[in-house]
Amino acid sequence: MLHIQENINIGDSTTMKSPSIARYFFEVREESQLEDAFSFAEEHSLKHLILGGGSNIVFPAGCFEGIVLKISLLGIYEEEDVLVGLAGENWDNFVQKGIEVGVCGIENLSGIPGTVGATPIQNIGAYGVEVREIISWVDVFNIETKKVERIQNAECNFGYRDSFFKKPEGKKYIVLRVGFLKKESCQVSVLYKDLKTYFESRSLKDVIPSDVRKAVLSIRMNKFPDLDTCGTSGSFFKNPIISKDHYKKLQDSFEDIPGYEVGVEKIKVPLAWVLDHVCNLKGYEEGNVKLFEQQPLILVTNRKADANEIKSFSEKIKKIVFTKTNIEIENEVVIF
Ligand code: EPU
Repeated sequence: MLHIQENINIGDSTTMKSPSIARYFFEVREESQLEDAFSFAEEHSLKHLILGGGSNIVFPAGCFEGIVLKISLLGIYEEEDVLVGLAGENWDNFVQKGIEVGVCGIENLSGIPGTVGATPIQNIGAYGVEVREIISWVDVFNIETKKVERIQNAECNFGYRDSFFKKPEGKKYIVLRVGFLKKESCQVSVLYKDLKTYFESRSLKDVIPSDVRKAVLSIRMNKFPDLDTCGTSGSFFKNPIISKDHYKKLQDSFEDIPGYEVGVEKIKVPLAWVLDHVCNLKGYEEGNVKLFEQQPLILVTNRKADANEIKSFSEKIKKIVFTKTNIEIENEVVIF
């Protein structure tokens, strides 16, 4: 028998803290419960939403008339060439363990809120590393067949903050556990601007992964809002990737606009710079929502803004950016 709860406040389980009620709520602690949970959803014709660490999601305003499944599968273990984390494990604890056993590169992803299971879906990335570089495989539960399948890295179709799991054909999978590659030796990656500055005075051959973790945690602490006092999901928008022609046109008007090559034809533009220097929106506030003063790509709330208010605020920002730059920006955060 599943212990399904009713009318639960799920907004509090997300870092944005937007008010939202789930008609049904179930916390999945064992893999075997998934089959029953989805049978329940099918019998009652319920839609479902998956909750991991809640750091990249805003649940619907008012009441969601479906079932929210919180993935609380816990465990970390080593296999010959991988470190395996179950989906519900806290990501940053897993990073610490990963550094100890030689998951090379994971140190750059320190301090990101959320759970292990969410990392492949989003292809999380920070300070020069994306999680796709260190994932070997992802084990998933197939909602349709009720069977477990292993998806290899190459089949995940990873892109910038994107993967197969975000596409319609990937939606039938629930992440159960993820295998991360262990390496014999580790070359640290400190080319990202903020890290380069941090290690300026040191010889890089002495820098080890735990130093990088320390650096990343300290950089993040100064730049990211305090999760204990406000509502936020980190970067709210993706950094836009535009054509070289488009970038050149923008340079005509905004000489200093930064840009990073993506492949041979595209340029990734830091939206924080555009919001700050082109749109003058740093700290811009309306109602319960604002663009964070220290990093305008980050949207923060006073924990009272629901999904509708956040949506209309973000639409307004999108329009302003488009009017000034012809760039169409996309959400990074999943908002219902
Ligand atoms: N900038 C400004 N004004 C500001 C702040 C920044 O002009 O007030 C400019 C600077 O030129 C800076 C640039 O914006 O160099 C980029 O900012 P930053 O290095 O802080 O990183 P980001 O590109 O905004 C991305 C990820 C973050 C990740 C950081 C660090 C996305 C959408 N965001 O942000 O990921 O932590 O790089 O690697 O790709 C997240 O996904 O939630 C997230 C926080």
